[in-house]
Amino acid sequence: MIDAARTADAHSTEGASAPWGIRLDDVTVRYPNGTVGLRGVNLDIPAGEMVAVVGLSGSGKSTLIRTINGLVPITSGSLTVGERRVDGASGRELRRLRGDIGMVFQNFNLAGRASVLQNVLVGRLAHTPLWRTMVGAYRAEDRELAYEALDRVGILEKMYGRASALSGGQQQRVAIARALTQRPKIVLADEPVASLDPPTAHGVMSDLRRINTDLGMTVLVNLHLLDLAREFGSRMIGMRAGEVVYDGPAATATDADFEHIYGRSLTTDDRLDG
Ligand SMILES: Nc1ncnc2c1ncn2[C@@H]1O[C@H](COP(=O)(O)OP(=O)(O)O)[C@@H](O)[C@H]1O
Ligand SMILES: [Mg+2]
Repeated sequence: MIDAARTADAHSTEGASAPWGIRLDDVTVRYPNGTVGLRGVNLDIPAGEMVAVVGLSGSGKSTLIRTINGLVPITSGSLTVGERRVDGASGRELRRLRGDIGMVFQNFNLAGRASVLQNVLVGRLAHTPLWRTMVGAYRAEDRELAYEALDRVGILEKMYGRASALSGGQQQRVAIARALTQRPKIVLADEPVASLDPPTAHGVMSDLRRINTDLGMTVLVNLHLLDLAREFGSRMIGMRAGEVVYDGPAATATDADFEHIYGRSLTTDDRLDG
């Protein structure tokens, strides 16, 4: 958590508003085919927290993220982000909600042939009239936000290059800059470093942490490596079969805690350096 005065200051210079918390009360998600993605999940994540979500493949980590941004509807319970109730929201309200939540994915999801700057300006789409995007006439303040975001992740000098020409780590930084350019209230990252080599993964996680500490951003990141969760989470949530089976500090989580979350012994694949 960061102190309120510093957040207010950071946000006045960037023109952003305060980050949001996330609250799930007894949330169950059942997919149309009957598979249960989340089972009775209770979580209260205060604004400004950095949360690492860990669990085996299929444990519900991605479902949790897609539920928070309203892509997957909940079957029962209630879900609130900031002051907004997500369950029962209209299509229009959900689109607005997604404009306020920055998403980062494992495979970057960039337009490879477009420039880095164009990719990052996509973050302003939800806030830009259609005619401006059609003629590429982004406002000066939108460009300013894009430059600031690129600078924050250290790739400002790549701005005119093609996204596809960048390394994996650089592409993920572009994706993070795109999310920041939205001026999000929350950043959700689904396995953002799963396709990166260990040093690069470490660098990208450091960028996400800096966004948390410098901007006071609420960051929830799904991770599959326990040492990254320990190092970068302030809080760790462990999921197994759709349920939260661990919720506590990340730094002090023991190997036994991870074995409890995974329901098996640890292997070298669970650690960054193998
Ligand atoms: N669109 C979907 N339709 C049906 N079942 C799904 C869908 N997406 C995920 N699931 C199932 O929900 C459970 C949780 O999956 P997921 O949230 O993707 O886990 P994780 O991200 O931890 O690997 C799994 O059993 C998975 O097979
Ligand atoms: Mg997943």
